[in-house]
Order: sequence, then C-alpha cells, then structure tokens
Amino acid sequence: MSFRIDIVSLLPEIIKSPFDSSILMRAQKKGLVKVHFHDLREYGEGKHRQVDDYAFGGGAGMVMLAGPIFKCINELKSQRDYDAVIYTTPDGQKFTQKLANKLSLRENLIILCGHYKGIDQRVRESLITHEISIGDYVLSGGELAAAVISDALIRLIPGVLNDGSSALTDSFQDNLLSHPIYTRPSNFEGMKVPDVLLSGDSKKIEIWKAEQALKITKAKRPDLLEG
Ligand code: ADE
Repeated sequence: MSFRIDIVSLLPEIIKSPFDSSILMRAQKKGLVKVHFHDLREYGEGKHRQVDDYAFGGGAGMVMLAGPIFKCINELKSQRDYDAVIYTTPDGQKFTQKLANKLSLRENLIILCGHYKGIDQRVRESLITHEISIGDYVLSGGELAAAVISDALIRLIPGVLNDGSSALTDSFQDNLLSHPIYTRPSNFEGMKVPDVLLSGDSKKIEIWKAEQALKITKAKRPDLLEG
C-alpha cells in the first residue's frame, strides 16, 4: 500500500524542513510515503497571481480566494483519487490519536493549509472532507498544523518505525499515557531506577508498566479515562 500526502500552501517553504530529517525522511526514502508540496501562489489570479481578497460584508483580515484553491485541488484530483481533503483551521474537529489512526489507513490525502482570516466558505462546503484543529489556540498559518498531522500519520504506517510495536504502545493508544521510562545508569547521582525494571521478571514488569500508566493518566489526564 502506498501513502501519499499533498500539502497545498501559500508558504510551502515553512513546512518542508520537518520532512527532511529523522523518521519522516527515512519513511520517504524507504518509499513508504510520498509527500508533495504545492505552492498556491502558482495558481493565483491575474498578473499579480492574487490569492486573497477582502471579506464581503467587511471585517478585519484577508480571505483566501476560492479560485486558486479549486484550480490546485481539482488538478490533483484529476490525477488520482483522494480519500480525504483536510483543511487545517482552529475551528475544526480536534486532532486526536484516534483520528490519526483512522486517517493513517487512507492512501491519498490532501492537506490545505489555512492562512489570513481563512478561506472562502465555498471551498469548505465543496472540497473539504475534514476540518482539523490541532488545539484550542490560533497559529499564524496552517502549515505547522499540517506538519503535526502528517507526522502523527506517517509514524503509524507499518514499517516506518523500526520497532513495529512501538507506535501501538505510544501514549494515547488505549486512552492511556505512557508509563515512566529509564535507561542507563541504573543509579544516577543517587536517583535509582525502580527495582522491578531490573528484576528480569517480564510478567512483573508488564504489570508495573500498566499500573504506572493508569496512575499517571488518573493524575494528569483523568478525562481520558471517562467512558
Ligand atoms: N491554523 C491556525 N490555528 C490552527 C490550529 N490551532 N489548528 C489547525 N490549524 C490552524
């Protein structure tokens, strides 16, 4: 199965670097994911390649024009089928691990990065299948949100992480935060690793990890345990 993400943005330069190192770069080198960037300015209107205009009815801030977005996304859609067209926006559905799991099972995704005051409503109604917010705060543009979403999806693709099980044991899978982790030395300036982790008793260790995960989740994020 191939996974492809097309990122449509007014500022593609902002978003490229996270894909150029570490896990995201290796995933592309291994051929497990293809990421393409599209500069909306190239689809801009007229001599000045206009991409935004004032809002009808007034109000502060510019609005991204429908025309360039339709042109770019329709061009992509004419080349292959897309399973989702995501728009990054603070008034979207909250991004969670559950949504990441679901979207990582798709094959071809478009992510449209919002800017200025937002995009013409007709784009939202006709082209967008998912409106996603990465949290209740406002960023200056949707590029960083698109990078966050892409990262969370790509690490779930089988073969991307060296240890196949590790994405499934992340915090938030099973609605639990992670248990504490330690590495050498077992005694660092008098601060000791819990004995059980050095015991070699794998059953006891598993029980300890589960208990700790529950304790930490209860203390830090009790909302995850509701329902
Ligand atoms: N664009 C601006 N703020 C955002 C947010 N919180 N999530 C997604 N896209 C955004």
